Amino acid sequence: MTEDTYTASRPRLIAEVRVNEATLMLGDRHTLVARDLPQTVLERTLRRMDGATTLDRIVLDEPALPREAADELVASLDALGLIDDSALPAFRSGSEVILELEELIEARCETTIYRNPFWRTCLAANAPDELPQRLATGMVIENWHFLFRESYFDAPVLSYVPNTAVRLLLNEFFAEEYGHDEILLRSLAHVGLTYEDMQDAIPLPETMALCNALAYWAHNDPLFFFATLGLLEGQGMKEDSFIEACTRVGMDEAFVGPLRTHANINISACHGNLSRLIYQKIPAITEAEARRLKAQIPLFVDLYDAFYSGVWRHYTADAPLLRRVSEL
Ligand SMILES: [Fe+2]
Ligand SMILES: [Fe+2]
Repeated sequence: MTEDTYTASRPRLIAEVRVNEATLMLGDRHTLVARDLPQTVLERTLRRMDGATTLDRIVLDEPALPREAADELVASLDALGLIDDSALPAFRSGSEVILELEELIEARCETTIYRNPFWRTCLAANAPDELPQRLATGMVIENWHFLFRESYFDAPVLSYVPNTAVRLLLNEFFAEEYGHDEILLRSLAHVGLTYEDMQDAIPLPETMALCNALAYWAHNDPLFFFATLGLLEGQGMKEDSFIEACTRVGMDEAFVGPLRTHANINISACHGNLSRLIYQKIPAITEAEARRLKAQIPLFVDLYDAFYSGVWRHYTADAPLLRRVSEL
């Protein structure tokens, strides 16, 4: 049974039970033979499936009925269309679930991204030698690769069918994000990199891993993908610590200005708030879905942390700035 299926908690059998010697008849079309259970136990169990009694209660009252056998019985009756569950599955509102997800993301960031040498360097840098231009350029290069590929992971959710309000928000976001790689290209032009150079450049493996994971989630688990947008778009940020650091150490305005332009688009369009806005439009998320969402947070935050570690490793080393396809 997958995590998303649930056993009817108050099953109601919608077929009449009749005893026919060594078998039980369910309505006119189905016959049930008790194999591992005494027939009387099976019959009593079926008769108690009245939509009012919980399966837990039935199992408690029948010592000869193991829990797994009861779940299996309900699941097979359900598959035959013979079970009607009168209870709603446990659920919470999207607004409630996103707050819990945000807390988990924040807690994971505290032990990963917030301790990442790249961010520690940015927060501490005050003088030019404390944030090398090569490292700052590298951060913009990898961000450019990420933004250049943004439609890999934003486009699959544009057609999000389950919720029209969410779909509209995503389409608005897509339009606002479009072409942001070109803003960063202006910073790169100032340090001598052209569009042709960038077309020839290979992203770091960590950058590609993040893009691929997001594309996977956008295709296969849009709800989880929506939960990643807040962190990616700088939730709760008034200013970007990287841009602040570039400014403090006195980098050229021609390099920092376009970065600020990009960050200001995020801030004024409230992109950091996007996960919340989307989840506020989702009236119900089952507990099984919430568990699935929570379980994927460590992987997402760790991939994002690895992105910064990749930037730190490659752009503080002596290797050529760009990993070029033409030099492979
Ligand atoms: Fe952007
Ligand atoms: Fe954005």
